[in-house]
Amino acid sequence: MGYLYRKLIRRLLFRFNPEFVHDTVIKGAKAAQRVEFINSAVRFVSRAKDLPVTVAGLKFRNPIGLAAGFDKNCEAARILSGLGFGFLELGTVTLRPQPGNPKPRLFRLHDHKGIINRMGFNNAGAFDAARSLERLLPLPVRLGVSIGKNADCSIENAPANYLEALKIMYPYGDYFAVNISSPNTLRLRSLHGGDKLRRLLEPMLDFASGQKKSKPFFVKIAPDLEDSDLQGAVALAAELGFGLIATNTTVSRSAVHARWHAYEGGLSGRPLRELSNAVLKRTAELGAGRVPLVGSGGVFDGPTALEKFKLGADLVQVYSGLIYEGPFLVKYILDYLARSGWKPRAAAR
Ligand SMILES: Cc1cc2nc3c(=O)[nH]c(=O)nc-3n(C[C@H](O)[C@H](O)[C@H](O)COP(=O)(O)O)c2cc1C
Repeated sequence: MGYLYRKLIRRLLFRFNPEFVHDTVIKGAKAAQRVEFINSAVRFVSRAKDLPVTVAGLKFRNPIGLAAGFDKNCEAARILSGLGFGFLELGTVTLRPQPGNPKPRLFRLHDHKGIINRMGFNNAGAFDAARSLERLLPLPVRLGVSIGKNADCSIENAPANYLEALKIMYPYGDYFAVNISSPNTLRLRSLHGGDKLRRLLEPMLDFASGQKKSKPFFVKIAPDLEDSDLQGAVALAAELGFGLIATNTTVSRSAVHARWHAYEGGLSGRPLRELSNAVLKRTAELGAGRVPLVGSGGVFDGPTALEKFKLGADLVQVYSGLIYEGPFLVKYILDYLARSGWKPRAAAR
């Protein structure tokens, strides 16, 4: 199936502009998921053994998830859930709708199996995402909602902007991913540092603990951090009780050919794998089992997923791998994990 995808479907899709293909896939998925027979057929061909895991107090049917940015408006979650994922991270959603950066803003680095994007949180806003999820729920997978900052909101006002978006999305997510690591929103990554992260997280955690159901949070970190910022983020995570997602895309171009060096944006896929794994490993060492960890960056098959668990991840996400290897990647990874005797890390429960 993967061979067929690479030889036929990918070849066809890669003839077109990447963003056009992405939008068309989402539109097609949205239409297809209205037909129950299609959902059942997708579920049937993607079925895999359950590999249950409990992380941050949540039970997942398996530890493989869709990374944020694929379904930015939370529109295609029903059909995506049929691909075998244990969880979907939807968004990134911002409080108000925004168009994102000027096009072109999405590039395939085919030789490297990488992607550069500078989308800039293009999305229809939190109310629209909530309306969409209202129609789609309940779903057989865990849902994470990724929240980001509007581009026209200053860093100083970021806490209120995130909090308002969280309030709208709160009923719909099983967990919330706080995205402070996109390289495509000016100064967003400065939220990693010092007291800024505490001032951002505390109001959201307070809000959650005041609700009937308190839900877990994960902060998504950049792979390009100074070690002192990473130490600060891990210490805060252990103190306040949130998890970390390591990592978002990189601004480094050291793993790709010089002709890509002038392309601004975040690099993902194969060229991100080593850097992202190094940050995951360091985060796991610093967290010493106290902080739930999600690994993201460069997962293209079973072995690259398994290596993230070995480095300390409790859950693993894919994005670029789906574009290059096709939608059956999830099933292949799950089958590989089942064969290799993967077991959840006890500390994550
Ligand atoms: C086109 C594109 C858009 C993305 N948008 C988001 C986003 O909105 N929010 C986010 O947290 N991460 C976003 N990401 C980052 C991915 O979620 C993921 O962390 C990163 O691509 C590394 O994983 P990968 O190598 O499997 O792609 C995006 C990635 C790509 C390729």
